[in-house]
Amino acid sequence: MKKMLFLILASALVLSACSAKTDGDVAEPEDHSMDGMAMGHDHHEPDLNHSTGENELKLPPILKSDKETEDEIHYTVDAQKGQTEIFDGYQTDTLGYNSSFLGPVLKVKKGQTVHINTKNSLDEDTTFHWHGLVIAGAADGGPHSVIKPGESKEITFKVDQGAATLWFHPHPLGNTAEQVFNGLAGLFYIEDDEADQLDLPNEYGKNDFPLIIQDKTFDEEKQLNFTEVKDEDGMMGDTLLVNGTVNPSLTIGKEKVRLRLLNGSNMRNYVFKLSNDQAFTQIASDGGLLNEPIELKELQLTPSERAEIVVDFSKLQDTDQLALLTGEDTVVLPFNVKEERTGGDNVNIPKQMNSIAVTDEEKSMKVTKEIVLDGMAEDVTINGKKLDIDRIDFTQKKGEVEVWEIYNKPDEMGGMIHPFHIHGTQFKVISINDELPPENLRGYKDTVSLDSGDRVKLAVRFDEPGIFMYHCHILEHEDNGMMGQVKVE
Ligand code: C2O
Ligand code: CU
Ligand code: CU
Repeated sequence: MKKMLFLILASALVLSACSAKTDGDVAEPEDHSMDGMAMGHDHHEPDLNHSTGENELKLPPILKSDKETEDEIHYTVDAQKGQTEIFDGYQTDTLGYNSSFLGPVLKVKKGQTVHINTKNSLDEDTTFHWHGLVIAGAADGGPHSVIKPGESKEITFKVDQGAATLWFHPHPLGNTAEQVFNGLAGLFYIEDDEADQLDLPNEYGKNDFPLIIQDKTFDEEKQLNFTEVKDEDGMMGDTLLVNGTVNPSLTIGKEKVRLRLLNGSNMRNYVFKLSNDQAFTQIASDGGLLNEPIELKELQLTPSERAEIVVDFSKLQDTDQLALLTGEDTVVLPFNVKEERTGGDNVNIPKQMNSIAVTDEEKSMKVTKEIVLDGMAEDVTINGKKLDIDRIDFTQKKGEVEVWEIYNKPDEMGGMIHPFHIHGTQFKVISINDELPPENLRGYKDTVSLDSGDRVKLAVRFDEPGIFMYHCHILEHEDNGMMGQVKVE
């Protein structure tokens, strides 16, 4: 009886702490009294510090190609260790690509053949995974494609998808969370002629900015100590970094500005909004431009999801105190709005940007792949199983659409959000709990967020052969085996 009561109590607590959408309307202010309490699993959700705005946002450099022609581009991407001054006067041990922390932006054009010399200068195994790219399994950089310390490998692929903001990160078996936490993450931009014709802000660092959003915990010496903060349900930090900048602010002109948001966190979900509660416009999701611009006041991003938004700073009121917030009122990024414009001419967001649709045929197709996400912490599974790297869980024919149904099974503790990701494809969301997805989820996606109890149908097609991973993108869940493999032939 006592046990029953405890279970009920515990599930109520966990429900409110873990599975409640972090929506502005639903979420209660985070409650610190929960920290360290026995909640059936030892999950900690520390409050995030507000950004004081004292540091101008750093921008990742655009990587210089080794060689480029119309049709081909060559890059070198080197995973390395280093030290970074994140906090004034402190050197933090970090990892990065071609730098000590995070990585550069790789830009490629649709139609180009890309050669990347991937190099491991770490003293541990790593892989180079191109998250969101439609690419053959052999070049996708999943856990099969280990590169040993000191070794390198060239991969080649042809870009055959539209303009999008993708990213890359390591994917070594059981060790992804720590390497990403320590700084391995970079951006991968695809450009195409059609998107270039559209009247969207596209001057990098002027009216077009990436925002890589990550929460970290630093120890007293300002070091990242993963084993110290490790949480089997996903590390949540108290310190927000945007593009690796602590306490960032962004100076922009009174004009339309494009922000490319990436939730690069291990497990934290964010609900972004503007501090004056005005609307902004979402123009792209994970896999590229939406059909039409969508006006929003709030936008949720779970780990690995991206969204591109345009904020019209010429139309905003109270720009003195303007900031990007998450949750109730945590300041992520204060804006410093200048009178003069820094970017291009007047931008007019087109009404029609893309044409993505779930076809009637896809709507009438039967579910042929069922995926059940279950559990928490060490007990996470997919279809009751943990990853076995020697087991192929599903097969699918190249170029053929199948309907995958993903179900996030609630458990006696309430359950939690799992962001579900598939490699090597951009899928379409057919339905969420039998309803049409919200408009901003009707573009291409490679990760879809499922609340506890949610059932989501996806139209999935692979255009390249190979073995692809699908998994929960809470990195610790992935490391704990919440991952499976589909073989495409
Ligand atoms: Cu972001 Cu398996 O990937
Ligand atoms: Cu991926
Ligand atoms: Cu998960």
